[in-house]
Amino acid sequence: LDSLAAVDSSVPAPRRQQDRTRAPEPGPEEFANTPDTDPSLPANRGWGRDILSRVPGSDLGRELVSASRVVTEEQLDELLNGAVAAQENWAALGGTGRAEILHRAGDILEARRAQLLEVMAAEAGKTLDQGDPEVSEAIDFARYYAERARELDAVDGARFHPARLTLVTPPWNFPVAIPAGSTLAALAAGSSVILKPAGPAARCGAVLAEALWEAGVPRDVLRFVQLGESELGRELISHPAVDRVILTGAYETAELFRSFRPDLELLAETSGKNAIVVTPSADFDLAARDVAASAFGHAGQKCSAASLVILVGSVAESRRFHHQLLDAVQSLVVGQPEDPRTQMGPVIEPAAGKLLRGLTELGAGETWVLQPQKLDAEGRLWSPGIRAGVQPGSEFHLTEYFGPVLGVMRADTLQDAVRLQNQVDYGLTAGLHSLDPEEIHWWTGAVEAGNLYVNRGITGAIVRRQPFGGWKKSSVGAGTKAGGPNYLLGLGSWSTAPSTA
Ligand code: ALA
Repeated sequence: LDSLAAVDSSVPAPRRQQDRTRAPEPGPEEFANTPDTDPSLPANRGWGRDILSRVPGSDLGRELVSASRVVTEEQLDELLNGAVAAQENWAALGGTGRAEILHRAGDILEARRAQLLEVMAAEAGKTLDQGDPEVSEAIDFARYYAERARELDAVDGARFHPARLTLVTPPWNFPVAIPAGSTLAALAAGSSVILKPAGPAARCGAVLAEALWEAGVPRDVLRFVQLGESELGRELISHPAVDRVILTGAYETAELFRSFRPDLELLAETSGKNAIVVTPSADFDLAARDVAASAFGHAGQKCSAASLVILVGSVAESRRFHHQLLDAVQSLVVGQPEDPRTQMGPVIEPAAGKLLRGLTELGAGETWVLQPQKLDAEGRLWSPGIRAGVQPGSEFHLTEYFGPVLGVMRADTLQDAVRLQNQVDYGLTAGLHSLDPEEIHWWTGAVEAGNLYVNRGITGAIVRRQPFGGWKKSSVGAGTKAGGPNYLLGLGSWSTAPSTA
């Protein structure tokens, strides 16, 4: 089956798994993806339990968050102008000088893996198995963009001029990997950065910023900011010192930013409404496992998550597929992230508005296969839900819910299934489970999404191997993909030397 997944054979073999209780190895010269923690090693299980025992009383990042609150326009001016002034020296290090600091950042993030996991669990409800790959991805971004920074120096006859100041506004759902990726890209390009983390995950951002400062990124070059007054958001976006904004968030947020400043240079990864298609030729066991993991990992709060499964032809009647899926989902252990048994943690804030409706109300023609149950008084802990009979064109078909609820649709043919996938305005991730090479070939050419996955889950893109980014309303201004070879090029402009011919 592995041979059917898109695999880049030029990727070096992964390094041997590390025992997390030992000192980390230094970063490699050439890029190789960082291995996740292997929970089968007894030492790593003890290491994980130690982290979880610290979660309930964790204070990591809190001090920096309170100290970084900006409340007046004057403070904001001073901060932004300071970052712009510091950029010249940062750019003057050259790609090679910055690469050294970024490689060190990779090593420090590895050394702080336990801290990052602690703060992600404490603040964002991430279980260790969800947080661990996120730390690996952050390390990958540091080392991968370090190498791309070196390449910027090596283009004959042309010079790269980075944006002087990049504002990074990441989301709370990947509270380490996404701010790390955006910040490290801008730093690698030679830009100064204002990192304004999402409010519900500010402490995660703070621990990340501290790691980057420790690696040698000057404090003036990377500024960590919390806005004390909401109207300062508009000031920040509209400020003339800000050259670029890297946003990961809702499509509506990108539109709001553009309304503040129509000429804004914006690289935005926005919403998704993603489906996995299962055809009669699929391995149903594998398909059920991947649908469950993609729909309910981090309680469904991923832009890349599977919010829909589209069953083609006889799959819709297959008792085997239904049993496998129901069994995989019903057996998920829901609980608090500090409990080592937990497989699905809480949602970030008490479910309200659209998410609450998605967890409690059905649309026309829909029925509950598995009705979500509220498991705490607050409304953050929900058992996973599956709704069948989602109708083409309905709200559940076309819009994002961002929580632990999966919709089931049916299609007569694979062509009909793709029509349902493409009817969505977004185009972030898409999945196919099929063992028929012709189906795979046709689907790959027909589906409109940035990241396509065949016979695997649709979350968890891997730096260099699966650069990440969407189409249609899943992307605003971002032509290049995060974790891919060209991402840095969107963070500046080139000039060529005058021709002497
Ligand atoms: N890069 C994240 C994923 O692939 C969003 O799941």
